Amino acid sequence: MSNNTLSVTDNRTGRTYEIPIENDTIKAINLRQIKVNEDDFGMMSYDPAFTNTASTKSTITFIDGDKGILEYRGYPIEQLAEHSNYLEVAYLILFGELPTQEQYAVWEHEILHHTFVHENIKQLMQAFRHDAHPMGMFIATVAAMSTYYPEGRNIQDEDARLKQIQRLIAKVPTVAAFSYRHSRGLPYVYPNNDLSYTGNFLNMLDKMTQVKYEPDPILERALDVLFILHADHEQNCGTAAMRVIGSSHTDPYTAMAGAAAALYGPLHGGANEEVLRMLLEIGDIKRVPEFIKGVKNRERLLMGFGHRVYKNYDPRARIVKRIADQVFEVTGRNPLLDIALELERIALEDEFFVQRHLYPNVDFYSGIIYQAMRFPMAMFPVLFAIPRTVGWLAQWVEMLNDSEQKIARPRQIYLGHETRDFVAMGERG
Ligand code: ACO
Repeated sequence: MSNNTLSVTDNRTGRTYEIPIENDTIKAINLRQIKVNEDDFGMMSYDPAFTNTASTKSTITFIDGDKGILEYRGYPIEQLAEHSNYLEVAYLILFGELPTQEQYAVWEHEILHHTFVHENIKQLMQAFRHDAHPMGMFIATVAAMSTYYPEGRNIQDEDARLKQIQRLIAKVPTVAAFSYRHSRGLPYVYPNNDLSYTGNFLNMLDKMTQVKYEPDPILERALDVLFILHADHEQNCGTAAMRVIGSSHTDPYTAMAGAAAALYGPLHGGANEEVLRMLLEIGDIKRVPEFIKGVKNRERLLMGFGHRVYKNYDPRARIVKRIADQVFEVTGRNPLLDIALELERIALEDEFFVQRHLYPNVDFYSGIIYQAMRFPMAMFPVLFAIPRTVGWLAQWVEMLNDSEQKIARPRQIYLGHETRDFVAMGERG
């Protein structure tokens, strides 16, 4: 018998089962054979919040949380952030390999020439209240896009699938920028296809009366690197939502609206906003020790610290910190940075944080950069959703091509009432 098995003894019956181990994992369905008698449904595993359940095999993103490693298709995030750009990384994430020069030229052309949205989409967005949250507008508009591209439902047609992917990656900056302009009461700016992906996004956000808008190259590059860092992060809450919704074979627009809805929450895409609020509340570097004392007394959390997966320095945080210095040369130094640096310095030396492996995560510095670039806090989750679009779509395609996947349908442990008879309203106590 192979050693690659797990022996499980059920002490209720005294029976032992040999469960195969593959990739250091057992299949939950193999527990089903464990029964006390023939009528028993069989054993299940219970894992609220999926803290120890792999829902898929994947070849897209690798994370080693203990060592602080993040790789897309095997390439370390540090090398991609240094040498690549967002559209090239998007190609890598989607298709599995870095593009040749020719492949990149075609890809870039396809994305940069699908940035316009239907005029009716613009009108639809104009119908939102003047103070609508940009992320609410973004989610609703992405969902509405499914009605403009009904061929998106042909999810088994690879050409049609690719078309929707290109459309979504190309148009999300436009939808995001329109939602920003709307929330500021500013006229929408149409895309400029002569600019880079992030250069055009800055154009649609900032352009006023200039005949020709020229993005600041440092800010353009900084945003591009931030987009690289946020492009994918394996099976997080939003991506899991994308896969679950997509598993019912809905179109990618509708599935992606659901993924973006998951990202909207403060425990996911909203954490950098919480960091900013915390820094504003501390207000002065002199108050940092007092704040840290509160954290250690468990009165507060140090927002932007700690991570479910990373128990080491989040590799993205290191890169974001470097970008911050470059951005501040253009925008002027954000005074909140000094508070953040002091918080980090004290926390990294303090036993409380060291013992618990609490390090800065990606959100610790990104909010400070976005604020310096004059983004309102409500835009932070939208700035996350734009680059994550490619991750969601690559994971969606992987799910559709995976013959082991079916419609997602978890089990439950029912602890409610046993069967009982209906009681007429007048007879209820
Ligand atoms: N400040 C103070 N103490 C903390 C923090 C923090 N930010 N994070 C964790 N701890 C403590 C916990 O109280 C716990 O202490 P204990 O063992 O003495 O009870 C210990 O560290 C382990 O923490 P867990 O809560 O078990 O870690 P978990 O993996 O469940 O939580 C999470 C991870 C949610 C990110 C948490 O660290 C946190 O709330 N951080 C602040 C919010 C934040 O920055 N979120 C962004 C994450 S990155 C992203 O989503 C893109």
